Amino acid sequence: MKQRVIGDVSVSAIGLGGMPMSIEGRKDERQSIATIHAALEAGVTLIDTADAYHLAAHDEVGHNELLIAKAIREYKGDTSGVIVATKGGHLRPEPGPWAQNGDPAYLKEAAKASAKRLGVDAIDLYQYHRPDPKVPYADSIGALVELLDEGVIKMAGISNANVDQIREANEILGGRLVSVQNQFSPKFRSSEEELVLCDEMNIAFLPWSPLGGISSAADLGSTFEEFARVGRDHGVSPQVVALAWELAKSDVVIPIPGASRPQSILDSVTAATVKLRPEEIERLDAVHAE
Ligand SMILES: NC(=O)c1ccc[n+]([C@@H]2O[C@H](COP(=O)([O-])OP(=O)(O)OC[C@H]3O[C@@H](n4cnc5c(N)ncnc54)[C@H](OP(=O)(O)O)[C@@H]3O)[C@@H](O)[C@H]2O)c1
Repeated sequence: MKQRVIGDVSVSAIGLGGMPMSIEGRKDERQSIATIHAALEAGVTLIDTADAYHLAAHDEVGHNELLIAKAIREYKGDTSGVIVATKGGHLRPEPGPWAQNGDPAYLKEAAKASAKRLGVDAIDLYQYHRPDPKVPYADSIGALVELLDEGVIKMAGISNANVDQIREANEILGGRLVSVQNQFSPKFRSSEEELVLCDEMNIAFLPWSPLGGISSAADLGSTFEEFARVGRDHGVSPQVVALAWELAKSDVVIPIPGASRPQSILDSVTAATVKLRPEEIERLDAVHAE
């Protein structure tokens, strides 16, 4: 598959998001493992997860990390080039809004626990999940600096960050910020400013919920008919058009569509081969969230 870069590591232009396999509505483990194996078979070498991808208020922190580690262990092919990107600082102690904890001591412990669940000496990419308003951002990012310096993590990223936080994090990390993971899709475009900054700074930008989120992804083509129209012209799904449109924004963009069925990720990866024409991109850019 077409490659993009995180830090100095080459990864597939389309990643796999692990959230639907572990939160509410998840399918059985066999289907989830088949989905991860289908992604690997198709050449996906970036899998995104988080310690908080589990059922809310259940004592199963790290459910998705354990699932991904198991699927990789059981895979018969070569997984040496596969990057697992996890996150810390978000929690699901109860149903409802997710909680935050950006305390540096907590983040350091959380990263070590994630490494253990993933079965690795050092985490490929560790992302601070969401700024905690109770903790100065610089303090939370300071934990990433220590984790890098101690070799607990190989690369550091941030998520749900604004332009000031991206600049601040990169400065505190001494230029070692490799990725920003923000919400971006046909439906949610307000992260375009951060995407543009990442392009300028040559930092990978990972759109989360790139199809509009678990409950909206299936309706993408009926909500945004232009994506369906362009899809018909290329013989691909509206979801594939959305991913191709995101990829066309910049070479730093690496969408991470979630999936809990092999068919979903096998369709999504084809976006890496779709070449949209400039006038199609203009039409898709002009679509407004409805
Ligand atoms: N950093 C953050 O704060 C944050 C927040 C949310 C998500 N994320 C990350 O971003 C990833 C992606 O976001 P998301 O899972 O919330 O939403 P999403 O990727 O927009 O949508 C996921 C849903 O899309 C469906 N799908 C995938 N490919 C498809 C295709 N080609 N055609 C039709 N349907 C398709 C899947 O259905 P099936 O389940 O039926 O396969 C899946 O449930 C997550 O998995 C997670 O890793 C990060």
